[in-house]
Amino acid sequence: MIYKIQEEFQKRFGEGAVCYASPGRVNLIGDHTDYNLGFVLPGAIDKAIYVAIRPVEGTVCRLYSMDYGESLELDMTGSLPEKLWARFIYGVVQEMKKRGAEVGAFECVFGGDVPLGAGLSSSAALESVFGYALNDLFSLGFSRADLARIGQMTEHNYVGVKCGIMDEFASLFGQRGKVIRLDCRSLEYELVPFEPAGCRVMLVDSMVKHSLASSEYNVRREQSEAGVAVVAKHVKGVESLRDVTMDMLDTYKDEMEPVVYRRCAYVIQENLRLLEGCDFLKRGDYKAFGQKMFGSHEGLSREYEVSCAELDFIEEIARKTPGMLGARMMGGGFGGCVIHLVEEQAHDAYLDEVKSRFQARFGQIPRVIDVVIGDGARKLA
Ligand code: GLA
Repeated sequence: MIYKIQEEFQKRFGEGAVCYASPGRVNLIGDHTDYNLGFVLPGAIDKAIYVAIRPVEGTVCRLYSMDYGESLELDMTGSLPEKLWARFIYGVVQEMKKRGAEVGAFECVFGGDVPLGAGLSSSAALESVFGYALNDLFSLGFSRADLARIGQMTEHNYVGVKCGIMDEFASLFGQRGKVIRLDCRSLEYELVPFEPAGCRVMLVDSMVKHSLASSEYNVRREQSEAGVAVVAKHVKGVESLRDVTMDMLDTYKDEMEPVVYRRCAYVIQENLRLLEGCDFLKRGDYKAFGQKMFGSHEGLSREYEVSCAELDFIEEIARKTPGMLGARMMGGGFGGCVIHLVEEQAHDAYLDEVKSRFQARFGQIPRVIDVVIGDGARKLA
């Protein structure tokens, strides 16, 4: 992939490119917890967005997207570009400038192998690779955590998704063979070894690209905040769902809409599942960990209601499969993938079954993506 990008750069701009990569992510457990300042457990994957880039004089950048086959001249002192892919890059530059950085102009070619629209955070990978590259090229002095915030704020202010920090954090901090137990309130994190011998991490794509995903995402965020507001009226110091226990929620249940109660209950329980699950991982008990993944799916589907028929269908087949340690929908929801932790010997038979049953029910064969937990943002030699 990177060779193709370098070659394209040479064709368009000549010599002198520096190359960077930043990966997509999976999340083993803990969804919709990040913006509620809880915990997540993501890992970077072996699929990334790559950029070949070189600084130039002036304020106009020349960009070429390999995946879209589109080029654009973009003045970073001008207004927001129309093309979505360009907004990510424009947003990163603006967020850096807001923080006082002097970001020069550049020309670049970028592209990658993070499947688009599958919930593997190709957008976070794009923000992170540009954040990382510009930081390095222009010696801006941002830390990886700063770059994660810059990526997150790009989503908020230039794309319109009020996302949490998980995706960008995973893309920037990932390490091979390790998942990141991230406390989204303090940004303290621990790298937890994740090398389940004899098992594979596999994704089955529901093939659903739900147009409601980002608007419903923002609604979930508002519902969580509504629950916090109720409890905060009574309990001092409550600022997010992180500060709310099930006892508190139950005490003030009658003051909130039932749907708000359900959303908040899910988030509180998901944090607990994650913390217990993490302890199992540290003891190498992948079986017990997998049970938490199934529990997470149930909560996301029934209480947080961000699943869809296709995701539930896949998860249900997985749950009934011997040798399947765990499975759950992953990410924002309303489409995207189910992540599986499956024993090697059960892998092929499960795939045959899920593909044929999915096709019989929904009329198409779901895409299967095997992933390995890989490294985060980096400069390439
Ligand atoms: C999307 C967001 C993340 C996170 C997940 C759900 O991927 O970008 O910040 O909220 O959804 O866990």
